[in-house]
Amino acid sequence: MQLSLLDVSNPEDTARIRVDELRRQLEHHNRLYYLLDAPAISDAEYDALFRELQRLEAQSPGLVSSDSPTRRVGGAALDKFSSVTHRLPMLSLENATNVDEIREFDLRIKKNLGLSQEESVSYVCEPKMDGLAVELVYVDGTLTVASTRGDGVSGEDVTENIRTIRSLPLRLSGDRIPRLLEVRGEVFLSLEAFRKINSEKEEDGVEPFVNPRNAAAGSLRQLDPRITARRPLSIYCYAPGVAEGADFRSQQDFFELLAGWGLPVNPLVRPAIGIEEAVTFYEEMQQQRELLPYEIDGTVIKVDSFAIQRELGAKSRSPRWAVACKFPPRQAVTVVEDILHSVGRTGVITPVALLRPVEISGVTVSRATLHNWDEIVLKDIRIGDTVVVERAGDVIPAVVRVLTEKRSGTEQPSLPPEQCPQCGSAVVRIADEVAVRCMGLACPPQFRESIMHFASRNAMDIEGLGEKFIEQLLSLGLVSSVADLYSLTRDDLMKFERMGDKLAANLLAAIENSKQRDLGRFIFALGIRHVGERTAKSLAQAFGSLENLVTAPFDELVSIRDIGATVAQSIRTFFDNQGNIAVIRRMRESGVSPAVEQKKVGGRFTGKSFVFTGALSRFTRDEVRILVENEGGNAVGSVSKKTDYVVAGEEAGSKLAKARELGVTVLTEEEFMELLGQME
Ligand code: IVH
Repeated sequence: MQLSLLDVSNPEDTARIRVDELRRQLEHHNRLYYLLDAPAISDAEYDALFRELQRLEAQSPGLVSSDSPTRRVGGAALDKFSSVTHRLPMLSLENATNVDEIREFDLRIKKNLGLSQEESVSYVCEPKMDGLAVELVYVDGTLTVASTRGDGVSGEDVTENIRTIRSLPLRLSGDRIPRLLEVRGEVFLSLEAFRKINSEKEEDGVEPFVNPRNAAAGSLRQLDPRITARRPLSIYCYAPGVAEGADFRSQQDFFELLAGWGLPVNPLVRPAIGIEEAVTFYEEMQQQRELLPYEIDGTVIKVDSFAIQRELGAKSRSPRWAVACKFPPRQAVTVVEDILHSVGRTGVITPVALLRPVEISGVTVSRATLHNWDEIVLKDIRIGDTVVVERAGDVIPAVVRVLTEKRSGTEQPSLPPEQCPQCGSAVVRIADEVAVRCMGLACPPQFRESIMHFASRNAMDIEGLGEKFIEQLLSLGLVSSVADLYSLTRDDLMKFERMGDKLAANLLAAIENSKQRDLGRFIFALGIRHVGERTAKSLAQAFGSLENLVTAPFDELVSIRDIGATVAQSIRTFFDNQGNIAVIRRMRESGVSPAVEQKKVGGRFTGKSFVFTGALSRFTRDEVRILVENEGGNAVGSVSKKTDYVVAGEEAGSKLAKARELGVTVLTEEEFMELLGQME
């Protein structure tokens, strides 16, 4: 009889059971969320499971494993990628650019197989994803290596980055899992993710990506997987490499088995009996292209049967059994009639090309973004130039290149403005940034956006204060900073168009209610560059009060998890600005009193404040904060006379010295653990 390897009275084994269970649950919820679009638990519940797993793994390094969902958040940065040789070369596809060429492909297949022209070949039709080809290697069901296509023979090892793709299983589920499974697929970014990444880039004043494909390539070839983890890459699998212990009969059979193991397969894939059905698919996809949430650049037609695929074989660079049916390029040639300067909500001034209107796949294009002046110089775009314009999905069209051979000599270069076209303030170009910015805080587009942001649902949540009213507040000159919102009277509001007693009363009540919002929302509402909702929450938790945050030195800000030098600097710049401080002071005087979130009452640490400093070996900063807060205490960032405990880890520095100087109780990490232990 075999002895049981698990001993539930042994804490290591209990942890192992829990770790397995957590991994299983997390991957199950990943699948529901990312693959099936049907989440079954809230984000907060998911985070709680994830943190529990992180903590258990941190406590027992023996339990760490490469297929743990915790590995999806990105590990240490690499110096360079190592090279991976593909067991089977990754071939390319031959192109067809119109329906005649698609029909010629079918004729060639029939000729090669010795079939008559009347017979029908069974094909599978797929959208041709516009991304990057990768190869995934699963050994006994576990993802072990992922590589880019490279030159087809060998590519780069991007395993850590591929692990960040949530829709991709790190471990296959289901039956009959092959000993070795190589799968090829296309990594891509949704249009929504692309837009988000680019607007963040614009906000940061750095070069945006030209199209979703480049953004996906840039994200996949990131040496720091933590950056990749913040870029929501997706993947669809479409072809096998070497497979041992699996017998795929056909492309359809392959897709069915993949889906059963939890691998993502494009749901638009469709069988076609005979080439005319494949032509219909191509035409339908061309129509649907505009509505898809990602970019496709054509369709792919493959012979369904793998036996017939083998019979047909391959040429040197492409198989004979498949063809890429390309859509016409979404490009057109037109003339730049003028270059305008457009001011965005963060003050970034973007050059915009006014184009002679031109149709690109059914849409009339009359403007294109030029991103920034570096790009204008690089591409040498001048007013009057004939240019190639590209449109990707519903993304703003961009100028690809200038047809310099069409120049007449009358073309005029465009220079960056010295003054903001909206408010006349001087503009600056910040070092290391490509963007030109208007620094006028009262610049109308910036100001309008900052009020909209302040009042928005996730910030101060002032119900009813939408774009329409904000426009009127501005045009009536009733507000010149967000602080003015708190001095509005009923008479002021009655000056608005279509305003009645009831509406005015509701709006005033909503403004009054917002005075009690919690500190995290208030910090977020201030609209500090780089401080999103999550960072604002972390700041609120770390500092406990607005006053602590306003005075926090740079070093203290960077010591908070997730806050890097850029964010810390931006926070300091914001609070070092006396104008901003004056606005905050006026809000406080009007009764805005952002409170710290309610803590558990009656916990062991109620009313106690902790400062953690130095490197802790068992917990992350977030975890200790949660532990303390769960017991009603506060984990704050800086040591003062009011601090109850300072927990000092390895290499604790100035905060420890300050604690000693002020006579605050200092605990080692072990002593803190004991304090926690007493509670159980
Ligand atoms: S099959 C030997 N299927 O298109 C067959 N490729 O032009 C290998 N692609 O390198 C490719 N969607 O990056 C295949 N559904 C699809 C595809 C697809 C996009 C890309 C892939 C390949 C390129 C060939």
